[in-house]
Amino acid sequence: MQQRTVSILYENPEWLPPITEALSEVGVDYTTWDLRGGSVTLDNGPSDQLFLNKVSASAHSRGNVHVPAVARSLISHLESNGNKVLNGGAALDLEMSKVRQYDALRKYGLPFPGTVACFGIDTIVDAALTIGFPLILKPNRGGKGLGVQKFDSLEALQALVDQPIQLESVDGIWLVQEYIATSQPEIVRMEFIGGSLFYAVRVNTSGGFELCPAEACQLDANICALGDNAGDMFSIIDDFSAPFVDACERMLLDYQCFTAGIEFIEDTNGQPYLYDINVNTNYNPEAEQKAQLFGARRLAELIKQSC
Ligand SMILES: Nc1ncnc2c1ncn2[C@@H]1O[C@H](COP(=O)(O)OP(=O)(O)O)[C@@H](O)[C@H]1O
Ligand SMILES: [Mg+2]
Repeated sequence: MQQRTVSILYENPEWLPPITEALSEVGVDYTTWDLRGGSVTLDNGPSDQLFLNKVSASAHSRGNVHVPAVARSLISHLESNGNKVLNGGAALDLEMSKVRQYDALRKYGLPFPGTVACFGIDTIVDAALTIGFPLILKPNRGGKGLGVQKFDSLEALQALVDQPIQLESVDGIWLVQEYIATSQPEIVRMEFIGGSLFYAVRVNTSGGFELCPAEACQLDANICALGDNAGDMFSIIDDFSAPFVDACERMLLDYQCFTAGIEFIEDTNGQPYLYDINVNTNYNPEAEQKAQLFGARRLAELIKQSC
């Protein structure tokens, strides 16, 4: 039987090369489908095609605010015709909303920081009084840490809320969240591929909250803030294990996530808090080179098995 082609649904072309190169290496044919435009005929199209969805919650930060909704409709259409979409509708729903992510974490008994979801900015101050200071204010639809801010006092938060022009949450939902103080400036991102933990990477947070691992993001991000240590911003942990990995794997299966980078932070007592699920994840090339573990390659090998 002839091998199937995988079609990659995307809005950010910069994130494609690691995947397309790995697919070529393992001998899988691919096409790409740019969701920033185009059309689809709503008929009984092909029903046995394979797709990989690469649409990210951060699409709005590249001027592609409409693409997640386009992707959601297209994926529904493809799935209703019987096609297989890796990181399909259920996974995209999770990617787009931290409210849904925290509900998923809670369902699987996974710890996350105390959070109040505010619909618009009017209730942010009341929520802050419930959560206490310091706190984190972040948009529900995240991406690359954009708009994530720490507040140490009510005065500082009130000053921002009084000038709402500075506040942007693309779906109108703000999360007021307990700030987790750490003993080291770091978080850990666990990379799951095909339902299993592949590796965990330690991320140095001294440069701020914008922590996208993709090479394309490193070129224009806050890497200068780390100076000569920039190369060490991401380092893969040898033989990482944690008691909550199993529950993460079961949760990702439930939400049909083919890939995910799940971030957690440890407080000064060593208590972990999970706080971000990146279904559309990217891998840091320098860290992978050092550890000789290659996420895109693993992804391509698993896609080959599905083809
Ligand atoms: N509750 C928190 N306590 C402490 N630091 C946090 C908290 N939430 C987020 N951060 C920091 O901000 C970064 C970005 O937040 P995150 O929720 O991952 O947003 P995004 O979805 O945009 O990546 C995190 O990687 C972490 O360094
Ligand atoms: Mg994050």
